[in-house]
Amino acid sequence: MDIKGSVAFVTGANRGLGAEYVQQLLDRGASKVYAAARNPESVKNSGAIPIQLDVTNAEHIRAAVAECGDVNLLINNAGAVLGGRIMADNSLENAKAEFETNVWGPFNLSKAFADTLEKNGGGAVVNVLSAVSWMSLKEVATYAMSKSAAWSFTNGLRLELARQGTQVVAVHPAFIDTDMAAGVDMPKTSPHQVVERTLNGLEAGDVEVLADDTSTFVKNSLPKHIETFYPKFAKKSDR
Ligand SMILES: NC(=O)c1ccc[n+]([C@@H]2O[C@H](COP(=O)([O-])OP(=O)(O)OC[C@H]3O[C@@H](n4cnc5c(N)ncnc54)[C@H](OP(=O)(O)O)[C@@H]3O)[C@@H](O)[C@H]2O)c1
Repeated sequence: MDIKGSVAFVTGANRGLGAEYVQQLLDRGASKVYAAARNPESVKNSGAIPIQLDVTNAEHIRAAVAECGDVNLLINNAGAVLGGRIMADNSLENAKAEFETNVWGPFNLSKAFADTLEKNGGGAVVNVLSAVSWMSLKEVATYAMSKSAAWSFTNGLRLELARQGTQVVAVHPAFIDTDMAAGVDMPKTSPHQVVERTLNGLEAGDVEVLADDTSTFVKNSLPKHIETFYPKFAKKSDR
């Protein structure tokens, strides 16, 4: 789809990757960008239209769809990482909260905006996923579960919305240099690169965007990555 002239709706648009999506959409000629945030006053990009949206709130979703009837590009960017090792005491609580934001949020928003997208020519849905859609890390195992589920949801949505000409795009970054990964001491991709690759992919008609070398490596390693990341005989102390 063309970015120029598009009308975009970006969730989690007040900071991090979301704010970068808003800015690059405006820079590339989107005619309108709705910047959805739990606190709309925290939206910084001038030129965007702040909208109140907690993606876990059904009433917020209904109101946003009613207010933004001209949208032809939905970017499900909002995400949360709370966990967490699976064996931690509070892991079920964390996993459920992560699923609310990372799976059911995009699920409900995509369903709610589907008719709007069709009415406006098909358009596109972009789901910001992760390299951990395809692997796990102990430190964020419950979050990885949510991103795997969101990847499967994205694939299912693509099959169903094909009939109305909606392009459904999965974006897979590894660590990005935002607040979410502030405590991570690993190479990080710039938000600028992730967004630039997303928008280039959208315009090229792609359905999958590998946002950096790490996510490209993980994808290209499937299913061999399981042996790369999980030595067959993990030390007992590391279990
Ligand atoms: N950073 C990474 O290393 C990394 C790697 C791969 C994928 N991702 C994904 O990239 C996306 C953007 O993350 P980021 O790196 O920009 O993280 P971030 O800096 O922590 O920003 C997260 C954004 O999501 C919003 N958000 C969280 N829960 C929400 C909810 N229930 N309703 C509405 N908004 C909510 C936050 O709003 P508030 O300001 O109100 O908290 C904030 O705007 C996420 O889907 C994340 O999972 C991130």
